[in-house]
Amino acid sequence: MSLSLAKPSRSALHTKPTDTYFSDLQLYRAISNENDITAVHVADLLRQHTHKRLLDLGCGDCTLTNKVALSLGDRNLRLTAIDIDAHMCEAARRNIDLDGFFSDVSIIAGGISDHLPNIWQNVDIAMMVHVNYFMQDEQFVDLIDSLPRGVHFVFVVDKEDSIFSQLWARTARPYWEHARFANAHIESRADIEVIKSVIQSSIRNPTRFPDPDDRDRLLSFLSYSNIRAASSADRAWILETVNKNAVHDKILVETNCYSIRKH
Ligand SMILES: C[S@@+](CC[C@H](N)C(=O)[O-])C[C@H]1O[C@@H](n2cnc3c(N)ncnc32)[C@H](O)[C@@H]1O
Repeated sequence: MSLSLAKPSRSALHTKPTDTYFSDLQLYRAISNENDITAVHVADLLRQHTHKRLLDLGCGDCTLTNKVALSLGDRNLRLTAIDIDAHMCEAARRNIDLDGFFSDVSIIAGGISDHLPNIWQNVDIAMMVHVNYFMQDEQFVDLIDSLPRGVHFVFVVDKEDSIFSQLWARTARPYWEHARFANAHIESRADIEVIKSVIQSSIRNPTRFPDPDDRDRLLSFLSYSNIRAASSADRAWILETVNKNAVHDKILVETNCYSIRKH
C-alpha cells in the first residue's frame, strides 16, 4: 500500500463548540449505530462500480471510510481522502494504516474548495458524509458544478426534521442553514440525476445517562453547542427537545442520502 499526506491548505477551520469535541465524538459513536448503517447504505449505492478510486470529501478520521470499504468488499480499492482539519488527517492516516483495506491511499489535509476541480482526477466514486454544515453555500454549489460526468457521488446530510436539525435550528443556526441550503439546492438541479433515500439509525437517549459529565458532553455534541455555557432556558429547551424525540431509551436519527450523477 502506498500512502501520501499532503500539506494543510490555507482554508479556515470551523469552530468546535467544545474543547472536548473529538472525545465527545467517540462517546457519541458509542451510543449510535449511525456509522454502521450509513456505511452499508452508501456502499450499496456504490457497489455497482468496479476498479474504483473512491474520493471521501471531509473524511474525518476515516472510520466511516473503512466501514464503507469493508462493506464494498473490494481489496483493490484506491482512496483519495481530504479533510480541512490536520488532526483528523493524522487520525485518518493512523486508521487507514491499521485497517489496510486500500491498495493506494492519498490523504490531503486541506479545504475541498481549494482543490477543485483537480480533486476529481481519476475518481470513479465519491462520498461526503455530514460535511455540508461547514461549507459556505457557494462552496457547495461550486463542488456540484465541478462534478465530472461519469463520477457517481453520494452525500449525506441531516434530514430537515431530524433531531439534529431541530436542535441546530436554535443552537447552531449557521450550520443548520447550510444543511437546509444543500437539501434544497440539490433537489433544484435539472442537470443532475438525483436519487434520494433516507437513512434511519438510532442513539441511546443521552438525558438518561447517569454520569452528568457524559450527559453534558453528549448533549453538547447533539446540539453542536456547549451546554455548560448555555442559559438555563436554553438548557431546558435542549433537554425537552431531546426527550420529545425519545421513545423510551432510543432516539431516531434520520439523514438524507443523495446519490447523484451529471446527465
Ligand atoms: C462531522 S465530520 C464527518 C466526518 C466523516 N465524513 C464521517 O462521517 O465520519 C465533518 C468533517 O468535515 C471536515 N470539513 C469541514 N469543512 C471542510 C472543508 N471545507 N473541506 C474539507 N473538510 C472539511 C471537518 O474537519 C470534519 O472532519
